Amino acid sequence: VESVIVAIDGPSGTGKSSTSKAVAAKLGLSYLDTGAQYRAITWWMLSNGVDPDDADAVASAAGKPAIVSGTDPSRPTITVDGLDAAGPIRTPEVTAKVSAVSAVPEVRTRITDLQRSIAAGAPGGIVVEGRDIGTTVLPDADLKIFLTASPEARAARRSGELKGADVAATRELLVRRDAADSSRKTSPLAKAADAVEVDTTELTLDQVIECVVTLVEEKR
Ligand code: C5P
Repeated sequence: VESVIVAIDGPSGTGKSSTSKAVAAKLGLSYLDTGAQYRAITWWMLSNGVDPDDADAVASAAGKPAIVSGTDPSRPTITVDGLDAAGPIRTPEVTAKVSAVSAVPEVRTRITDLQRSIAAGAPGGIVVEGRDIGTTVLPDADLKIFLTASPEARAARRSGELKGADVAATRELLVRRDAADSSRKTSPLAKAADAVEVDTTELTLDQVIECVVTLVEEKR
């Protein structure tokens, strides 16, 4: 395959972002963080007085913000209406509301269209990370990976990233967000039938990267 499309899905704290960025950088591919796009639209709703729990209001506003993703794996960017959103999309307020916003079908249709056009426009290929990439967004991807890890490992990694946040509280929030993402009606978090599952609980980040790079090279 000349141009390769890699879908990396899984719940939070499995190392999806770190793995996807590193694999894309090593192989000279573009990179897309689809979670950042759902976070960006959620940030816009919060900043513009749209109640994230009011699905009708969110649906009506879904088309309003302009969301632009930069796909260089060494410096991924995201802007909303021209504003740098990289910082604000990682706040606890956005994290708490992103599952509600991303469950709204109008939001998913809009963001899915955007993701497909970015993937189609990536010259040498792309690594796309998310929850429904292999199942819904890019069902014809050349390689589909589904990353998992124990809830304990995921909470420990995430609280490390958040510089010492309480592990038990982090675990609680992660488990709740995964349950919401897995149980929603429209394209829930799920492993595609043809995805390769990689349990990262006992692996270092370098081992996971190595494993995925090998799988991509087998497809090229
Ligand atoms: O990966 P990240 O934690 O940034 O994703 C934030 C949220 O965006 C997820 O909890 C989920 O609600 C939503 N999401 C999604 N579909 C994707 C990627 C993320 O619904 N493909």
